[in-house]
Amino acid sequence: MAVTIKNSHEIDLMRQSNRLLAKVHEALSHMIEPGISTGQINREGERLIRSLGGIPNFLNYNGYPASICVSVNDEVVHGIPSDERILREGDIVSLDAGLIFKGYHSDAARTYGVGTVSKRDSELIEAARDSFFAGMKKARAGNYLNDIGTEIYRCAKSRGFGVIRDLTGHGIGREMHEDPDVPNFPTRGRGLLLVPGMTLAVEPMLSSGTWKVRWKEDNWTVVTADGSNAAHYENTILITDAEPEILSLPV
Ligand code: MF3
Ligand code: CO
Repeated sequence: MAVTIKNSHEIDLMRQSNRLLAKVHEALSHMIEPGISTGQINREGERLIRSLGGIPNFLNYNGYPASICVSVNDEVVHGIPSDERILREGDIVSLDAGLIFKGYHSDAARTYGVGTVSKRDSELIEAARDSFFAGMKKARAGNYLNDIGTEIYRCAKSRGFGVIRDLTGHGIGREMHEDPDVPNFPTRGRGLLLVPGMTLAVEPMLSSGTWKVRWKEDNWTVVTADGSNAAHYENTILITDAEPEILSLPV
């Protein structure tokens, strides 16, 4: 589908949707502790989304069976929550969540340590977040899509982490996945010219080892090929003439 440029009314609705999602993430962050199951996190996430007037956009998306993707340790993204999967001290866990509000989608992910984690894992989590913000320095009208991915990649590599290449960010709006793809690495050519009113989900996925991934037998869960841990950090952003507006952070 084509790249959509949102008008001020649509931008306002994107803001509303993402503000609600920020509340969901805030609430879920307090649940992260040893002993909780990933299934519990998903159920509470879905309850929160609905209680705020939203619709879970991941649920049943291409058959995905949950509202929150919960990915533990070597799971990069799209982990399927389960009551049998219990978080333990020292794990790292990514929560990817989204919702639809008044027809507009939001999408954001955070990675947390469970209790105390290794130095390398806390650096990995920090690098995922920092690489997102490095990309944000270039995410403005007049620059090109490739500028964002180049900065994300540079930041992640400078910290010694792998950058997953098989999955990318994406445009977002009335659909969860709109054009363009938003890679977290440099591509050939400059890519699309960024213009005000574009809304993008920018989502670096980093590993402490290889960038290579494989899919588990459930056909959803993406894991690192070498079993190293992975972190994911994502926000929905609005391109403007100045700094991007990061729609899915708390205001
Ligand atoms: N947040 C994911 C993305 O950015 C979407 C989840 S895929 C789903 O593409 F199937 F779980 F919904
Ligand atoms: Co996304």
